[in-house]
This record gives sequence, C-alpha cells and structure tokens, in this order.
Amino acid sequence: MEMPARGDSSGWAELEYQSGFGNHFSSEALPGALPMGQNNPLLCPYGLYAEQISGTAFTAPRKQNQRSVQVLISQSSSVDQHNFVFYFFFWNILVDPTEFTITECSMDFVTWLYRIKPSVTHEPFHPRIPGHKHLVSEFNQLTSSVTPTQLRWKPADVPDAPTDFIDGLYTICGAGSSFLRHGLLITTECGKLQVSPGEMVVLPQGFRFAINLPDGPSRGYVAEVFGTHFQLPELGPIGANGLASPRDFLAPTAWFEESFHPGYTIVQKFGGELFTAKQDFSPFNVVAWHGNYVPYKYDLIKFCPYNTVLVDHGDPSINTVLTAPSDKVGVALLDFVIFPPRWLVAEHTFQPPYYHRNCMSEFMGLIYGTYEAKADGFLPGGASLHSCMTPHGPDTKTYEATIARGEDAEPFRISGTMAFMFESSLIPRVCPWALESPNVNADYYRCWIGLRSHFSCNGRQADVFDHGNMRF
Ligand SMILES: [Fe+2]
Repeated sequence: MEMPARGDSSGWAELEYQSGFGNHFSSEALPGALPMGQNNPLLCPYGLYAEQISGTAFTAPRKQNQRSVQVLISQSSSVDQHNFVFYFFFWNILVDPTEFTITECSMDFVTWLYRIKPSVTHEPFHPRIPGHKHLVSEFNQLTSSVTPTQLRWKPADVPDAPTDFIDGLYTICGAGSSFLRHGLLITTECGKLQVSPGEMVVLPQGFRFAINLPDGPSRGYVAEVFGTHFQLPELGPIGANGLASPRDFLAPTAWFEESFHPGYTIVQKFGGELFTAKQDFSPFNVVAWHGNYVPYKYDLIKFCPYNTVLVDHGDPSINTVLTAPSDKVGVALLDFVIFPPRWLVAEHTFQPPYYHRNCMSEFMGLIYGTYEAKADGFLPGGASLHSCMTPHGPDTKTYEATIARGEDAEPFRISGTMAFMFESSLIPRVCPWALESPNVNADYYRCWIGLRSHFSCNGRQADVFDHGNMRF
C-alpha cells in the first residue's frame, strides 16, 4: 500500500463513529428504535426483531478470557461485487475465527441487535462451491510444514481476473486447528466502516460483513485469532497515557437497508471450511443496537510511540497496539506491534533493532515506506517470517551504514513508514504454496551473509576468512 491518502468515497467519508475501546455503545438509525429499560420486549419499536450476539459463553466468569470456535465471513454475491479486484495477503495465526477480545474489563461481550428480519431467516447451509484451495485452518503435517529458515516474500501479485475478498484470501502460515477453537469499505451488522490504508479493523467472530473496494485493486494482511479477544496492553510504568489511546478506536453507528435481495448469499466460515446459504434480504438490516461486542477500527498513525532517550534499542513490545493473551500471564497468542514514524535519539547505541533469537515467532509486514532494519528486499505488501528461536536482525547494508555513521550520529526521524509484526507464542506451520511461491525470496539469507567479522584482539582487527562464497 502507498502512503495513506484520505479520500472520500461517495458518502462514506461522512460516516459517523463512536469513540472508545471496550465501551458499551448504543446506536440507532431511526429515533426510538432502541428499546429502553429492557432488551427483548414483547413488541420492539418499529416492529423489529431483537437478536443477541454473544462474544463470550453465557456462564464465563467475568474476569476470565473468552473462547470461541467459529468465524463468519459474509459477502454479497451480487454481480457488481465481483467487478472489484481484491487480493488479501492472509495469515492465520491461531486456528480459526476472527476472534478479538478485551479481557481485563471484567465483563461479558454481548450486543443486542434490533433488525428488520432475524439473521436465522435463510435457507440451509451447503459447502461452498467452488472450494477454497488456499484457505487453511488446520495446520498439521498434511497441510503445512515447519521450518527454522528465515523466510521473506515479495508483495503478492494482484490477480488479473476479478477476485473478491474471500477468493483473495491466501493463507501463509498458522498454528493450531479450528476445532480447538484499505481502502476498504466494510459494511457490518453494526454499521459501516471506511478503512483507509494505514488503518486496521477488528471484526469480531460471528459478525457478518461485506467488503467493497472504492479504489480498485487492494492488498492487505489478515490475522485470525481464536483463542482470546484483543485487549489494550498493560502500560506499566509508562503510566496512564501513551501507545494506543482508547479514544482513537472507532465503532460504527447503526445503518440498515430494507430492500429485497433475492438470492443473497451468506458465506460462513465454520470449522475452517466455507459454507453458503441463501436468503432474500440483506443481513445489514439492524436498525438499532447496543452492546460492547462490536467491530472497530484504528488509525495506526495515531499511535503514541515511546522510545529510549539515552542508550540501547528498546524491545519491540513497547510498540504493542493490541494483544490477545494466552493463559500464561504476559505471553500472547498474538501481539499486534507496529513500527511507526518516530525519532531515534539514543547515544552510543546501535540504533536499528539488535540481532536476536526470540522464543516467540514473528511475522512481519510492511504497509508503506521502508523498514529500518532492511535496506532493501522487504517491500510494502511483502512479508517475512522468523519463527521461534530463528536468528534475524538488520541486513548487511543496514549494519554497515549504521556503523559508518559512527558515534557522532545526530538524532534522526524515521519518516514515511509503517511496518508491523504479528508476534505469537505459537510456532506457525507454513503452507506449501507459500514455500513454493515465486514471490518467496530464495536468497533471503544472503542479506546477512556479507556481515563480516569486526573482531579484534588487543585493538587489532582480525583477518576476514573466506570460505567459498561465504565470508566469516
Ligand atoms: Fe525480531
């Protein structure tokens, strides 16, 4: 994706949102549509049906994380939807659903929808035809493999043939099983979201949504989590402010359509497989709703980064936007971390990320610009995977350029870039088409091979030994 450009898109630019993270929101598209004082009156205003969507088990203790077992993906199947070309770079990190949470709020996740017809009003589900060849939710030896090798992919090509959101999904890697449980215009049952390049959107498990592309071909990244919901990271000694602010998370306002849609097809992802069912009305018929289980978006450029101000490069966890925790305190199923524009001011310090091996697995993507640890080869729309304990770090060019700047390097601003990382305590298995893709950088390892020894004894630099074409 290119640098974010805020354009309007035929009325979507005037969309209203509700601000906050984890709030209990209320919204109605018609005055008085939301029942007052109770959730399911005998007769709802305007003759609407009351319907609840739960993001937690009814009996889940308020202070425990939630579990989930399925995800829904839906779209309109009308012909004009297929005129858009859409490609989504997909990474399924934890098993199945697009499941995102807030846990420390000590509450259940539930939303009441007041809709023209209930979502149950559809024909039976059937396996989707044709099936999806590159959508994987079961990561085992039959579907994928593990490798400690550093992997990097060039940006995936936008397909020549018109491709919708679902067929554009392309699983790179993941861990677990579903049975364990931007320029985008996204219509959800809670209302509409306009998601510009550089923004992220969270679609909770179970919500039906449709995606339109106002700008033509598009590329993006998807992480699917079905262990726990996303929450804001602990701020610890940082204090009460900083990183992602709750006020910058935006939820939609109620919007509905009533028109007759013969043959409208719902596509549902269930247990890792796609099913379709037909109905004669739009699923986006919710006139009013209230609750805290809602889709939301966040503009990454609003992130307030913290950084070292004297010596040493901070750990990337300082840039965590959202975290989906595991059962172990401080160990995430998925941390969503970004590397936004910011000042680097540390003195006497190697300022790019340090070389390291991590007990967590790191999947990185670049939304726009250049990533600070890779002088070239890591392109917007591309990706890299450094699994558990796989060594990685700045490439040779970055290292040499940093050393060449010396101790007198002035503070400088990293600008015009937005990289991100999905960091997980699980070890992802990689799909065969991702390993065999023409976009995989077969010579990725060479970006480090040129790193030469600077070792010196008693102030004398050691010789550099050559072994074939590899220098040590
Ligand atoms: Fe790393």
